[in-house]
Amino acid sequence: MERGMSRKRVAIIVSSDAGYQGTREDKSGPEIRRIVEEKGYEVVSSVILPDEQDMLSAEMKRIADNNLAELILTTGGTGFSPRDCTPEATLAVTERIVPGIPEAMRAYSMQFTKRSMLSRSAAGIRKRTLIINLPGSPKAVRECLEYIITELDHGLEILTGEASNCAR
Ligand code: MTE
Repeated sequence: MERGMSRKRVAIIVSSDAGYQGTREDKSGPEIRRIVEEKGYEVVSSVILPDEQDMLSAEMKRIADNNLAELILTTGGTGFSPRDCTPEATLAVTERIVPGIPEAMRAYSMQFTKRSMLSRSAAGIRKRTLIINLPGSPKAVRECLEYIITELDHGLEILTGEASNCAR
């Protein structure tokens, strides 16, 4: 994180029926936490929810509307399983879509697995909060998040009004 700028807050949402029911240990939420904390972000909340669109949207709204975090990172629920609905939950509450971030994640990830094309992840802005969907596995989280995180600072500074232009 650049000097002089305030520490950005991150909320983590894991979308997983098995994780919610406790039948599978969640390793992706902790992986997100590790990566963002290493970059100087503050994790303000981390929840595991089932693949239920209304519950996922409600948590995103709660965080954005109460200005609890500048960034929401979700993991899971971006594939083709009939229960996967994280992109829909995200797009239902975002006011402005941010297609470039998922596009970049999918393109970069093709070198690891061509199955990256199967992630339907979305990203968008609600009020002063950026919401980004990451795929579900810890490996996918690591590959995608480590790639995009270098540019998030700048985007969040513009979003929160701490920076007003792109001059470097
Ligand atoms: N992206 C990266 N970087 N690495 C991966 O291993 N796995 C893919 C894809 N994106 C993967 C990836 C696979 S196999 C699937 S099915 C989709 O993400 C959707 O995953 P999800 O349903 O867990 O969100």
